[in-house]
Amino acid sequence: MKALVLAGGLGSRLRPFSHSMPKQLIPIANRPVLVHVMADLRDLGVTQVGLVVGDRGDEIVAALGDGTGLGVELTYIRQHAPLGLAHCITIARDFLGDDDFVMYLGDNMLTDGVADIARQFRADRPAAQVVVHKVPDPRAFGVAEIDENGRVVRLVEKPAEPRSDLAMTGVYFFTPAVHEAVAAIEPSARGELEITDALQWMVSNGAEVRARIYSGFWKDTGRIEDVLDCNRELLDRLAPSVRGTVDGASEVTGPVVIEEGARVVRSRLTGPVIIGAGTVVEDSHVGPHTSIGRDCVLTAAEVEYSIMLDGATVRRVGGVRGSVIGRDATVTSAVRTRCSRLVVGDHSSVEVAA
Ligand code: DAU
Repeated sequence: MKALVLAGGLGSRLRPFSHSMPKQLIPIANRPVLVHVMADLRDLGVTQVGLVVGDRGDEIVAALGDGTGLGVELTYIRQHAPLGLAHCITIARDFLGDDDFVMYLGDNMLTDGVADIARQFRADRPAAQVVVHKVPDPRAFGVAEIDENGRVVRLVEKPAEPRSDLAMTGVYFFTPAVHEAVAAIEPSARGELEITDALQWMVSNGAEVRARIYSGFWKDTGRIEDVLDCNRELLDRLAPSVRGTVDGASEVTGPVVIEEGARVVRSRLTGPVIIGAGTVVEDSHVGPHTSIGRDCVLTAAEVEYSIMLDGATVRRVGGVRGSVIGRDATVTSAVRTRCSRLVVGDHSSVEVAA
């Protein structure tokens, strides 16, 4: 089985970060979403991965290279405009050949993995198999209606009035039967070739489309709140390790990762927390549920339930919560002060008034 990972698109809901980086590179527990996706695929025993990229493809290539370091073999497929998830299958036709494949949306995190669901697909080999998750309000997703045997009877993309509580996650398993379906459908009202329409075409033409319920943690990391939620979930599974230094005047409680070259001085870390390589934390309180990237600076800062990307700085500002502070961004105050939620884009500078 091959994999097709989709990392094009616009990511407009993740502004301001999507102005300066593809949303699939946002770090969760200090690793880009796409790196988590590749690890998940490796767990399925899939190593040949086609990666669809759009305008920001060069940054993805720079971050992931040829995949060797991630244990996969990457083939990049350029999409000139985000014309839909089913369009990605059409442009990947040469890569996919006549193999079965798993299609994985590059902004989705299924932190409990889909290895069992993949095994079921390999054993039963229906024409297609979707992975669904029960949610209280599925209006923002594709919605599947299934019969008592788990066969899909109807699929609708982002319905105003959902007829089930089963949202389609961003993982789909296909046999080559999908190629006829994507060739048969027309663009939707929003101008995209919808994967939901291709699946519905298969159902309407008598193909067997199965749904498997995933009941672990799932997030489409499309919004800041989802990114933070996902970060919390992964940090709750953190395996502690200290490779940097913590001075005697600091206090560490709960699971903490301190990467090489990081220094913690006269500070309090309340795990789960990750402090990235080369970061310096002084006279500060960090955590819980906080990821600090590489080469950050925290001086007289209080940061909890937040993400700081590589090279970010917080000086003399407390009360930072539910925040994402972009790469090389600075949040400072002349005198010690407090603020609350901050969403600061890459390379920005914020001066907080006392
Ligand atoms: O997250 C699950 C949902 O993903 C499903 O419930 C929906 O049925 C499915 O259509 C999809 O909806 P979204 O509106 O969330 O899709 P989005 O536009 O965010 O794109 C998902 C991923 O695919 C993202 O990593 C960007 C990439 N993409 C998207 C489009 C439209 C491409 O690579 N090319 C594209 O043309």
